[in-house]
Amino acid sequence: MRCIECGFQSELDQKMITCPRCGGILEISVKLPPTFSFSKLRGRGVWRYSPAIAGNYKKIVSISEGGTPLIRSRENSEVYYKFEGANPTGSFKDRGMTVAISSAVSEGYKIVVAASTGNTAASAAAYSARAGLKIYLVLPKDKVAIGKLAQSILYGATILEVEGSFDVGMKAVMRLYKDVGIVYPLNSFNPWRLEGQKTIAYEITEEIGVPDYVFVPVGNAGNIYAIWKGFTELRDAGVIDRVPRMVGVQAEGASPIAKAILNNQDTPQFVENPETVATAIRIGKPVNWKKAMKAIKESQGTAIYVSDNEIMEAQRELARKEGIGAEPASVASFAGYKKALEHGLVDRTSKTVMILTGHALK
Ligand code: F0G
Repeated sequence: MRCIECGFQSELDQKMITCPRCGGILEISVKLPPTFSFSKLRGRGVWRYSPAIAGNYKKIVSISEGGTPLIRSRENSEVYYKFEGANPTGSFKDRGMTVAISSAVSEGYKIVVAASTGNTAASAAAYSARAGLKIYLVLPKDKVAIGKLAQSILYGATILEVEGSFDVGMKAVMRLYKDVGIVYPLNSFNPWRLEGQKTIAYEITEEIGVPDYVFVPVGNAGNIYAIWKGFTELRDAGVIDRVPRMVGVQAEGASPIAKAILNNQDTPQFVENPETVATAIRIGKPVNWKKAMKAIKESQGTAIYVSDNEIMEAQRELARKEGIGAEPASVASFAGYKKALEHGLVDRTSKTVMILTGHALK
């Protein structure tokens, strides 16, 4: 494990969530066993890739997450949609939650907490229920899609509303975790969660090999890093010979990372009052910005921002041309792809995967 802020290094320690020296964000470096081969894996979903998932788990809390459809485009046989809406609570968050909650249970935690724009909340609530843990969710008041709020209530979570955006809730969770100590945080600064999310890369590779481009909607910026991490592990083990270019897509009103990449700045200018129709990615100060920028730069990818109109148009087009219903934040990847085509950043012959992170029913 290594801190991306101060460089602190340690052997794998499942108790560690943030850097014990400076409180910074940790990376878990995984070396696949030399015997790793897709043909030897058993089962389906996230835990199929358990030889690649760091940590020791006394108990695995699973609701059969992962193993989502990779749908080929009707119009272009080189283009695929990874439909994460098919997960048990309707978003990719379930992949990370099975690992983080299993880790919390293995470490003896009884109380978990998460800030959320909605999907993390629904997922965390479901996995906590399954594990018998008490969960507190910190949500931006009046800014969470009603379906996601309904899910969280249904699964029995206790909901704390905060005035302002997700970023305010995120700060509260950090303080709860660091000052109170007995609560396990489920946000994506927790590197164990990203161990689950990286299986998106393993599934894509197992099904179609390495794509040229992967388009990912970016909010708090954990997922793009997790997917890139998965590809780099496979490359370092010699299973594949290269990593796809990672393209991060943000909504214009919440696009600090995309603007930093496009303006060649090393540090993003955070957005005080983020605003977008894609409420799931309405985030002005992404905690994982450093990890995301590393994934984008090291993969020789790029970032794009799209307007609310482009997002809504992309949602309709995807539904009406391909028959795939995805929520606004998740079609940012498709809107970004369309823009990238227009600007000549990709061409139609490039093997491209768009991550559709959440279901339209959300
Ligand atoms: N797409 C959807 C549907 C999301 O819910 C999120 C994040 C993202 C994309 C962005 O992923 O944060 O890893 O860059 N939703 C979080 C939540 C913040 O609270 O549900 P990211």
